[in-house]
Amino acid sequence: MKPFTFYLPTRIVFGRGCLNRLGVEAAKLGDRCLLVSGRSFARRSGYLNRLVENLRESGLKVTVFDQVEPNPSLETVYKGAEEGRGNSCNLVVAFGGGSAMDAAKGIAFLLKSGARLEESFAPNEVDEALPIVAVPTTCGTGSEVTRYAVLTDVGRRRKQVILGEPLTPSVAIVDADLLNSLSKELVAYTGFDALSHAVEAYLSRESKPISDLFALEAARIILGNIVEAVEGVAEARENMLYASMLAGVAINLAGTVAVHGMGYYLTNYHGVHHGLANGLLLPHVLRFELERKLGRLEDAAVKLGFENGVSLVEKIEEVAHRTGLPRNLLKLGVEPSELDSMVADALSYARNLDKHPNPLTPDDVSRIYARALAG
Ligand SMILES: [Fe+2]
Repeated sequence: MKPFTFYLPTRIVFGRGCLNRLGVEAAKLGDRCLLVSGRSFARRSGYLNRLVENLRESGLKVTVFDQVEPNPSLETVYKGAEEGRGNSCNLVVAFGGGSAMDAAKGIAFLLKSGARLEESFAPNEVDEALPIVAVPTTCGTGSEVTRYAVLTDVGRRRKQVILGEPLTPSVAIVDADLLNSLSKELVAYTGFDALSHAVEAYLSRESKPISDLFALEAARIILGNIVEAVEGVAEARENMLYASMLAGVAINLAGTVAVHGMGYYLTNYHGVHHGLANGLLLPHVLRFELERKLGRLEDAAVKLGFENGVSLVEKIEEVAHRTGLPRNLLKLGVEPSELDSMVADALSYARNLDKHPNPLTPDDVSRIYARALAG
């Protein structure tokens, strides 16, 4: 069996209404907290005031930084850190989807280490950060249990990763009530991000039996719940939130492969939602691998109760259709003339492509993109 290290230092508090425990949990880790969130949902929903109140009731001094944009930039992370430094924060609380959580991780790192982000990108590992409490409000990234933060270098149109065990949140408050007002679109997009995490972690060269456990269970739950979750069934949304967390554990152990590596172009150059980019590419990457008789994919399908790999991919395509995902890249404004740039960009994400189960040549990547363009 492959050797592995399994270390999950996150206290996972899961259940409807557990948001009320935020202050009590946070107070164990610090007394001056920087509350990091996006620009709209937190304030508009009234949650931001509720969180501040809850943290103050537990004796914490709270500074709010609610300026995180989707696909957070390095500049935003520096801005947040400045805010935290000015208020002597010793704890970071993240409230939001992957963007808020990943920005918060970057801020927690800067506040503790004083290093620059640019000097700290993967494959370097960061070795210090302030404690982080993560409260996910989407059912996608699983960032509440991972040691990764994905940030955007806007000038270079590049996703950069900082990674290291200190970035793993100390506490995750996972409360499905927060998904009640999530739009259908975001449930579908973030759900497909989580499905990609599960499938990619299973296929990854760095998969291990212990990551397979999380990956397969996540995929099983997502395929069984995503359609109802998008339709608004509360229990299905809660199941998706649980599964996206499991998929987070899987990628923390095994990483992601070509779907993520190829999806970044769509986000960086066309503003396509990260989960939608993955959802659109996932079936095409899988069909390509089926043609190459990828045993791991057949194996995953059988373990998930499908007859073979083809029926698993058909199921993924069916749920993509039923949850309203666009069918091809043309619908997202991508032009066939961009193909060469897309291939070069995807191949530059070695951290994803190197983990892909079969090596992908530029020609392979081009064929997959071409199929995704056509739908
Ligand atoms: Fe992702």
